[in-house]
Amino acid sequence: RLYRVAAIPGDGIGVDVTEAAIQVLNKLAEVNGTFAFEFTTFDWSSKKYCERGQYMQEDWNAQLKKHDAIYFGAVGWPDIPDHISLWQMILPIRQQMNQYVNVRPTRILRGTEAPLAQLREKPGDLDWIIVRENSEGEYAGQGGTTHGHTKHAMATEVAIFSYVGIERIMRFAFETAKARPKKQLTMVTKSNAQRHGMVLWDQVFYEVAKDYEGVVTHDKMLVDAMTVRMVNRPESLDTIVATNLHADILSDLAAALAGSIGIAPSSNLDPTRSCPSMFEPIHGSAPDIAGKGIANPVGAFWSAAEMVRWLGRGELDETADDFMRAIENVTGDPQTRTRDMGGRADTKGVTEAVCREIEKM
Ligand code: NAI
Ligand code: MG
Repeated sequence: RLYRVAAIPGDGIGVDVTEAAIQVLNKLAEVNGTFAFEFTTFDWSSKKYCERGQYMQEDWNAQLKKHDAIYFGAVGWPDIPDHISLWQMILPIRQQMNQYVNVRPTRILRGTEAPLAQLREKPGDLDWIIVRENSEGEYAGQGGTTHGHTKHAMATEVAIFSYVGIERIMRFAFETAKARPKKQLTMVTKSNAQRHGMVLWDQVFYEVAKDYEGVVTHDKMLVDAMTVRMVNRPESLDTIVATNLHADILSDLAAALAGSIGIAPSSNLDPTRSCPSMFEPIHGSAPDIAGKGIANPVGAFWSAAEMVRWLGRGELDETADDFMRAIENVTGDPQTRTRDMGGRADTKGVTEAVCREIEKM
């Protein structure tokens, strides 16, 4: 089976880690022998934006749809306001490719130093899947500004929540929870202060929960209290569902609790499979270390493993698990850790080590 993947390295370390991910994915396919990848690289980046005023080409939508999946590095560069880079690339792709689910698994990989003592002793206490609503809510892009750039300026930022949008993310979250050993879902909201959209979010959650009575246990948290619970009682959580903004923030906290932003993966999924899904590490372009060849490629590799799982539709789960074991054999060895994990290895060294582990599979 040939999988056609659109690769968008983007900016900064996005370029380094995407190149590394392509290398290990090709190695994985070579060793496995039952599938292969055909990568098409798109040079959509902040540099292109400076040259031609646009990140992506006019026909980007049709181009991406020719692929089975999209692999994304990172976008954003100091010269360009971040709302421009986000709204010219990553957000239109998520929204127009129907990627209404963003899945962010978090656990403590071997070799990572968790900041909490509890987790250093019992790394298994943190094993979460954060399911983020990825198409509407606070990132719907609705609103406006009057009297901009004056002291009379007023701006609105309107969050949009639809029944359809909430129901589909809740169903996905319950199914995700059901497939895991703990079968437990925590829903995050802020319905005490935000009395319209968040109240609808709660209502739809309880409606969908009726279909999982006796199968998935569930509870509700306010987002502020949730940050405390994540830090103080990480073992009490399993699958988490939250809005676009809340899950964005909570998943960065999760990544930090797990030891490094450089290891965390994310999948932007179209569960209907009518459009290609997109896989990307959660970190950004890291201008402070860009071009030095020292970025941690582990988040990119984990995202690649999730891509393999998705493309295989159940048939490549074992391959993805083996791939994760290969990654953890590398993070478990102090010689092959990058600086953010307390080691001295560079991107190339970690990539080659993972390829060697894959060859042993
Ligand atoms: P960042 O994730 O790029 O960097 C935060 C810190 O973590 C930096 O000190 C960086 O060196 C370190 N770091 C991140 N990934 C690392 C890795 N793989 N290995 C080692 N260290 C790593 O976040 P920041 O600095 O807030 O944003 C930089 C740019 O990236 C901005 O333009 C921002 O908008 C963009 N960004 C893009 C995202 C995306 O494309 N999905 C996500 C987050 C930020
Ligand atoms: Mg974020």
